[in-house]
Amino acid sequence: MEKRWWKESVVYQIYPRSFNDSNGDGIGDLNGITEKLDYLKELGIDVIWLSPVYQSPNDDNGYDISDYQAIMEEFGTMEDFDRLLAAAHDRGIRILMDLVVNHTSDEHKWFVESRKSTDNPYRDYYIWRPGRDGGYPNNWGSCFSGPAWEYDEQTDMYYLHLFSKKQPDLNWDNPKVRDEVFTMMNWWLDKGIDGFRMDVISLISKEADLPDKPVGINGYASFNSAANGPHVHEYLQEMREKVLNNADTMTVGECSGVTLEEAKKYARSDEKELNMVFQFEHMDVDAGDLGNKWVVRKMDLRDMKAVMTKWEKGLEDVAWNSLFFENHDQPRSVSRFGDDGQYREASAKMLATCLHMMQGTPYIYQGQELGMTNAPFETIDDFRDLDSINAYYELTEKGIFTKEELMDALRYKSRDNARTPMQWDDSEQAGFTTGTPWIKVNPNYTKINAKEQLSREDSVFRYYQKLIRLRKEKEVIVYGTYDLLLPEDPDIYMYTRTMGDEKLLVVCSFSGKEISVEIPEEFTEGTVLINNYPDISVSGQMVLRPYEAFVIERR
Ligand code: NOJ
Repeated sequence: MEKRWWKESVVYQIYPRSFNDSNGDGIGDLNGITEKLDYLKELGIDVIWLSPVYQSPNDDNGYDISDYQAIMEEFGTMEDFDRLLAAAHDRGIRILMDLVVNHTSDEHKWFVESRKSTDNPYRDYYIWRPGRDGGYPNNWGSCFSGPAWEYDEQTDMYYLHLFSKKQPDLNWDNPKVRDEVFTMMNWWLDKGIDGFRMDVISLISKEADLPDKPVGINGYASFNSAANGPHVHEYLQEMREKVLNNADTMTVGECSGVTLEEAKKYARSDEKELNMVFQFEHMDVDAGDLGNKWVVRKMDLRDMKAVMTKWEKGLEDVAWNSLFFENHDQPRSVSRFGDDGQYREASAKMLATCLHMMQGTPYIYQGQELGMTNAPFETIDDFRDLDSINAYYELTEKGIFTKEELMDALRYKSRDNARTPMQWDDSEQAGFTTGTPWIKVNPNYTKINAKEQLSREDSVFRYYQKLIRLRKEKEVIVYGTYDLLLPEDPDIYMYTRTMGDEKLLVVCSFSGKEISVEIPEEFTEGTVLINNYPDISVSGQMVLRPYEAFVIERR
């Protein structure tokens, strides 16, 4: 297997709006990030993935971009960005920009032109269609509820938006669009950035005739219907040749609807497209089967193990995995897969062990290293995310859910759970801002905050620090082969990593109760590399404590 720096790295995702506010306007900003680089250095991460910081009307918090080469006013200036980049590089930290090019904002100058007339030079930058039988051009739905089409009076046609109506989809079949995007990417690489996280990149190539697709519970076909379209690999290969090969880049494609076979093409080791993809199958283990994320069921660990193992073994030797349990679109993992009450710290550390010991590049989402939890939102007015708000109104008005059911689902799964301000200390507003935060701070900041965790050797932060350090010390953690043990056990996730003579055993209990387990003999005399309880004594027959986790190296 080829050794690469991006395989050996740990990535930290920053959602700038909620990270650190340096000027008291209640919104995080670039200077706020620069202030916290030493904190990230102390954690030990190698790469920052910066969620979008470009000019944007903020319909979808920056994922609707109106100028790719300008900084969002609330976040600062291009000079602030340059300073952040230089300060990160001084500390040996690389920066990945979020590349959002499946769509732009409807306020981007290309779209402002495009909608003017059918013969405007920018018309074909977007996907325009006439209506069908007095209705929408096809049955596709938006990711954020409702149809994926918006009628535009000026030319009596509809434009496609797989996300909100303020996020019209670009037409990648138009070579001019690809050239514009590639020129813009090269401009950022010339600035010295280190790569890109590519937003819903699996959706950029649509089938020419935009056929109807199977409909879900809300009456529309899933936005994922457009995934892995006919030319997506061709376009990414073109991007690789015209842009990505111009520098030593790292790329990760957010690939909604990706299958294992498709992932092997996107992230193949011959590096003709991307370095790795985000797949989402493990984020569906607690979704019901009605094809709607608001239908919630409890995760069965056997399903999680099956999915993770499918990806670990499926990409072995041919491509590379990315590893995540959280990001700005997902709820907090400790509330979702662990216990955010009595065993919050133990379960946060257990989840970290389980993920960071797998093969792939691990991603930490801001606050995950503190074991931050879901937020106790009281009413729909506490939410800021358009996905959550749209779902609440559309699905309750249609009678698909009651208001109580949908509020429960939102409290469990809304993206806003991950978007509450970063908890820096126990001062007012968690030290995030001196003003009024754009979204409520989680009241548990008085207990859960970075300052407190830095003061304590047994904190979740210190545990992450140790996991990252171990990765630098032991190549087997990066490159070793993954093999699952006990696939049918409903409570224990146990696997090995093997490289030559080196072998590790990873044991994680997902249960809040004591569970007996047999430790394979070759490990009973081994060395414990990390464990989440203060003491441990390894033996052939062990009783695991609630959410216990440890890693043993064979002697
Ligand atoms: C995926 C992003 O992660 C999400 O936050 C965003 O809303 C959509 N893509 C649309 O850009």
